[in-house]
Amino acid sequence: MTRHLLDVTDFSSHEVREILALAQQPVDTLDRPLAGQGAALIFEKPSNRTRHSMEMAVAQLGGHPVYTRGEEVGFDTREPVEDIARILEGYHALIAARVFDHLTVTRMAAVVDVPVVNMLSDHSHPLQAFADALTMQQSLGDLSGKTVAYVGDFNNVARSLAEVSAMLGMHIRFACPHGFDAPLVELERFGLLGAPSVEQTTRPAEAVEGAHAVHTDTWVSMGQEAEKQQRVQQFEGYTVDADMMALADPQAVFMHCLPAYRGLEVNADVIDGPQSVVFRQGHNRLHAARGAIAFLFGARAHPTPQDPQ
Ligand code: CP
Ligand code: NVA
Repeated sequence: MTRHLLDVTDFSSHEVREILALAQQPVDTLDRPLAGQGAALIFEKPSNRTRHSMEMAVAQLGGHPVYTRGEEVGFDTREPVEDIARILEGYHALIAARVFDHLTVTRMAAVVDVPVVNMLSDHSHPLQAFADALTMQQSLGDLSGKTVAYVGDFNNVARSLAEVSAMLGMHIRFACPHGFDAPLVELERFGLLGAPSVEQTTRPAEAVEGAHAVHTDTWVSMGQEAEKQQRVQQFEGYTVDADMMALADPQAVFMHCLPAYRGLEVNADVIDGPQSVVFRQGHNRLHAARGAIAFLFGARAHPTPQDPQ
């Protein structure tokens, strides 16, 4: 059966570890599963990291990426999502899309026999989460029992980060304003996925205390631009600043999927300071994308990653 990558939870914890191990394998040790084949990359929203990392990952695996803007294919305006996907599977070994509505990628996955990859939706950002996990592993070693804190908007990035963190055995803490917090059912789900504890507060200082990784993201995701002024007021007090970072573990890393808005969700002295790993995190998008695609096409890591006992 064709595997898709719509969410981190499309994979087991063991498979996530496989993807992260593959991500660290040098390019020349991987086969070229996409040799002579295409990959459709469709973007309904802007991108720097995702477009470049996916194009290069496809190229490194022997394939040819074809970039198209969402307006060109016209999901449900020029033609139905299903018709677009059925045509593209005749040209490409992989269809990847960045969409406003998560349903668009699930509808594509329902009708094609090639892998569909979610390159960010309103719901989730799994490729980002794999890079986040890889970066945390590189900085912190084994993540099991470590604590990840997320300060800000419970959005697509936060959901996927929590999923991967839970699956790798991390304690999870959220600090979100009322109205922008994680629903209880989501907190429970992260526990069921493997997080030894999941906590949520409106006080960033509580969430960050002793944490090993402190994450944030923009308060205004793509498509929410009209709400910017109001959101900036609603998130007052949630800026990750040096005082907040001082409460975390002394070796803690600061992380952000980028693009970042200095002076809003994070201050410049933090994101440009010694604890920040945001550029390594961004560069890891390439390795994570390559690992995930290689996995979808049957590659397995050598040696096989060990699951916790
Ligand atoms: N982090 C991320 O997805 O960046 P882009 O929007 O630039 O792709
Ligand atoms: N939450 C942000 C992430 C950008 C990479 C957005 O959806 O715009």
